[in-house]
Amino acid sequence: MHSPSGKKSSKKRILSGVQPSGIQHLGNYFGAMKGHVELQNGGMESFIFIADLHSLTTVRDPKKLREMVINLALDYLAIGLEPSKTVFFRQSDIPEHSELTWILNCVTPVSMLEQAHAYKDAVAKGSKDATAGLFDYPVLMAVDILIYKPDFVPVGKDQKQHVEISRDIAGKFNRIYGNVLKLPEPLIHEEFGSVIGTDGINKMSKSYGNVINMFADENTIKKQVMGIVTDSTPVDAPKDPEKDTVFRLFSLFADEDEKKSLAEKYRSGGYGYGDAKKLLLEKIMDHFNFFRSERQKLLINIDYVMEVLKKGADKARRTASATKAEVWEKVGLKL
Ligand code: TRP
Repeated sequence: MHSPSGKKSSKKRILSGVQPSGIQHLGNYFGAMKGHVELQNGGMESFIFIADLHSLTTVRDPKKLREMVINLALDYLAIGLEPSKTVFFRQSDIPEHSELTWILNCVTPVSMLEQAHAYKDAVAKGSKDATAGLFDYPVLMAVDILIYKPDFVPVGKDQKQHVEISRDIAGKFNRIYGNVLKLPEPLIHEEFGSVIGTDGINKMSKSYGNVINMFADENTIKKQVMGIVTDSTPVDAPKDPEKDTVFRLFSLFADEDEKKSLAEKYRSGGYGYGDAKKLLLEKIMDHFNFFRSERQKLLINIDYVMEVLKKGADKARRTASATKAEVWEKVGLKL
């Protein structure tokens, strides 16, 4: 059975988007990407897309934008996203995202967008160049979600407000035009989106310069790992693993036994942060080893990557155009 939106009624649908931001790091991987890939085996219908239209709010270099998008696609496919299981596509391949944004703009109060963090922060920082695009970011994101009528939207804490705005906009539209848009449920994981950075203070983010890259060469990763800030407890003294950034990052990769065994070494003393860093480096290299070789293979087969994105877009567009038709009918644009 298909509903008017082309959606099978039985399986729950889950959708998330990622804004390309350059070179992906452990924060992106553990904070979002790994979880996105795992969704494909969870018995739900999974949609993951590259939010390249959102990137235009910050990226002004076309070459860089193209590179960032292709790199992100390569990263996802390398870490195991299977296009046969996940509808994987590029936002800008679906013109309905832009088209519906105008419609939803026309029901969205300016006061709602003035409360959105990204815009508020830009204004608070005294930015006079905050663009209409940045202001409207949450409406485009609402469309990204609402157009596919997902049941759940997994996001980090920092995006919770955006999902709430999406619900408000959907509610507003439905009150005016009748029940068309489905209110999405955010799926917020505490750890989602907040891996600790190598400075041990801030969440891992390119803007803080505290990252460990996923796919850099071993030397670069080694430098980043060795640069993790630790306290000045001498090698001989016992250490508290829970308070240490090396241990916290190691924990992302390790199973319970490995964590326990490293925690014991910390507590018993005679084990230095330098030793722990070596162990972490090994873990990182091991973990990404296979993915790295997959990425190399994909890199020399870019046509395949393009084909994946195209097919994903074809699938996604069926749903997007069905929702557009409903909306066009409701608002009176269909004659
Ligand atoms: N704003 C999100 C981020 O920066 C990315 C995004 C765009 C998104 N559209 C979305 C996430 C729709 C979930 C659903 O992480």
